[in-house]
Amino acid sequence: MEFAEVVRRRRMVRAYDPSRPVRREVVDELLEHATHAPSAGFSQGWRFLVLESEPQRDAFWSATDPGGVPDPWLAGMRTAPVLIVVFSDKQTYVERYAEPDKGWTDRDESRWPVPYWHIDTGMAALLILLGAVDRGLAACFFGIPAAQWAALRKAFAVPERLTPIGAISLGYRAQDRRSPSLRRGRRPLSDVVAYGSF
Ligand SMILES: Cc1cc2nc3c(=O)[nH]c(=O)nc-3n(C[C@H](O)[C@H](O)[C@H](O)COP(=O)(O)O)c2cc1C
Repeated sequence: MEFAEVVRRRRMVRAYDPSRPVRREVVDELLEHATHAPSAGFSQGWRFLVLESEPQRDAFWSATDPGGVPDPWLAGMRTAPVLIVVFSDKQTYVERYAEPDKGWTDRDESRWPVPYWHIDTGMAALLILLGAVDRGLAACFFGIPAAQWAALRKAFAVPERLTPIGAISLGYRAQDRRSPSLRRGRRPLSDVVAYGSF
């Protein structure tokens, strides 16, 4: 598929065909793409937790869903045969930038007014989303409420230094409801771009 087509066809998809698994080699191909994302100082402070089996996915949804009311969003998302939980690792950056070529030996976090670890990990996640489209798959990046992080950490022995920036559901598309957010429409370039000066 042409790159421009991949970009334009990408949509967050929130319901999947449960009868169509995704082969490990395809998942690994998407993860390979992710490792080609740019990263500050080539720190590569990202980590990915892949959940493919039903018990693993159930454990994820149990840990991250506060429970209570039946939720159509969750019902759709639970049909995804693969979940990739995406983590950023701040410590990797702090250590990388203390190396001689960077020289930030004070390891002072205020040197990062914008947290590169989250930026880079987000870029890596985008490559997974685009790679999925290129492979005829569908995906959705979604956030994990901070209140559920402790349960997530416990369920999957997540190292304390990792921050779950979100998760990606992956599979073959089923009929899904169009997100109401899309009614907002895409902002035109004239709204979001300034040439020369704001
Ligand atoms: C950082 C981030 C967090 C998001 N969190 C959620 C989420 O928790 N649940 C969800 O259904 N979609 C989530 N989305 C998807 C957005 O709703 C979606 O990208 C947006 O509505 C535009 O739709 P499109 O990606 O299909 O073009 C998230 C997207 C991003 C980039």
